[in-house]
Parts: sequence; C-alpha cells; structure tokens
Amino acid sequence: MPAADPTDQSFAGAVAIVTGAASGIGAASARHLRRLGATVIATDVAADALRAVADDCGATARVLDVADPAAWSALIDETVAEHGGVDHAHLNAGIFTRPHPYAVRDVTVADYRRVMGVNLDGMVLPVLALAPVIGPRGGSIVCTASLAGLGPYYDDPFYAATKHAVVAFVRSAAPQLAAEGLRLHAICPGGVRTGLISDWVQDRIDARSTTMLDPAEVAEAVAAMLADPGTGSVRTIVAGRGLVEYDFDRGVMPAAD
Ligand SMILES: NC(=O)c1ccc[n+]([C@@H]2O[C@H](COP(=O)([O-])OP(=O)(O)OC[C@H]3O[C@@H](n4cnc5c(N)ncnc54)[C@H](O)[C@@H]3O)[C@@H](O)[C@H]2O)c1
Repeated sequence: MPAADPTDQSFAGAVAIVTGAASGIGAASARHLRRLGATVIATDVAADALRAVADDCGATARVLDVADPAAWSALIDETVAEHGGVDHAHLNAGIFTRPHPYAVRDVTVADYRRVMGVNLDGMVLPVLALAPVIGPRGGSIVCTASLAGLGPYYDDPFYAATKHAVVAFVRSAAPQLAAEGLRLHAICPGGVRTGLISDWVQDRIDARSTTMLDPAEVAEAVAAMLADPGTGSVRTIVAGRGLVEYDFDRGVMPAAD
C-alpha cells in the first residue's frame, strides 16, 4: 500500500465511532481517522487504556460494551445530540474464546456466549442500531473479521465461527442496507502485532515464518474501505500482499508469505 499522505483530510467533517479502540487495530484506527480529520468517538471496555489513546489523538473516549444493546442506544443518542449525527463506524472489538491452547470440549456455555456476544452481537447490534443514523448520511461501516472468517482456525474454532458469521452477515445484509444509504464492508486481516496475540499464538505464527502486519497498516486499509463507494466488500489484508478483494468463487486463501 502506498505511504499515507500526511496532508490528507478526507474525513474532515465526518463523525466516526471505533470499537475496541483502547488497543491494537482499534487504537490505530482511531488515531488514523483523527489524522484524516474525523471527529472520533473511541470506545472500549478497558477505560484507562482507552482514555490514554483518546487523549493522545484527540478522540472522545466512551466506555462501551459492544454486546450491550442499551449501551449502543445511549452512545448513538449522545453522539447525535453532541455532533449532529454519525457518518462511519469501524466495528472492531474482538476476543478469543479462551487463552490458548484449549480443548474444544472444555469450552463452557459461558465462554461460548461471551465470544459470540463480543465478536458477533458486537457487530450485528450496532449495524442494526446505526443503519437508520448513518444511512441517510450516505455513510459506511467496516467490520473487522479475520482470515479465520474465511477458512478454519484450528486453535480457536469458536472464534472462527464468529468471524465466518460476521463475513456472512456483511455479505448478506449489505444489499438491503445499501437501499437505505449505508455501505457495509468486512476486512479480514492475517496476523497483526497486537495485545490479542499471546506468546503461545506468536510461537505458532513464528513457526510458519509468517510476517505480521502493523496495526497502522490495517487502520489505513479500514479508512480506504470506509471511503469505498461500493458495498458488501470482503477484503483480506496480509503482510506483503496488501488489501485484496476475496474471491468467494475461487475460495483461495491469500498465501501468508
Ligand atoms: N491481531 C490479529 O492478528 C488479528 C487478526 C485478524 C483479526 N483480528 C481482529 O481484530 C480485532 C481487533 O483485535 P486486536 O488484534 O487489535 O486485539 P486487541 O486485544 O489489541 O484489541 C481488542 C480490543 O477490544 C476490546 N474489547 C474486548 N471486549 C470488548 C467488549 N465487550 N466491548 C468493547 N471492547 C471490547 C479490548 O479491551 C481491546 O482493547 C478483533 O476483532 C480481532 O478478532 C485480529
């Protein structure tokens, strides 16, 4: 991807909500959208880390559990009252089911509900709540899925199930939501250097000699997808391969260099 233009203010005047913004990809996305001129509402459950990121980049910090529909209603009402509307959202918060390694049969109902709540409810509920707000302004939403949303992820099958569901929802809902003015996309990153990646996961990645992405590279790709005039795109981003539209007909996973 070409280096970001430091004078680019293409999001000036826009209001953007970012979830999972206390860390990793979400923090990089909040910083990048601020750099592009957007008013950014940075949200997360990790209040202290969130405030540090928001203070540093000039975003507004709001503690929000993405799985809580009432919290979404309150955040959207407050944002519309303070900023006049919402133009974009990067729905990005996500977790693994349990610390790796774990046995599939050891996963409890509570573990399952938690990962579904954050990774799937945390994308679907805000799409439903934001569509009537973003749609009339012709804005967009990008959901962070994963390569684990396109193929198996043997180290966390429940995580893979949530990410496949996000990809399926985005592809299936995008045409109807386009009729309301909302553009909806999903990005599927390969390995990214963030707090999500434990030493155990890093060792697995190192064993495959796979290069990791920097969160800033994903943030730039997300901004490009938010600005994309189309809808329903599912794009992979893998180190050394850039941002590529996934070809569902061929179903070929991008090689991880
Ligand atoms: N790091 C990778 O290699 C990688 C690869 C593909 C996809 N992803 C996806 O990227 C997204 C961001 O992950 P990351 O790698 O930056 O991880 P991260 O752990 O650095 O950031 C995730 C953030 O989500 C927040 N969060 C967790 N539960 C939440 C909740 N209920 N409500 C609100 N916020 C909550 C965490 O506090 C954290 O700040 C996730 O959806 C993840 O699945 C990551």
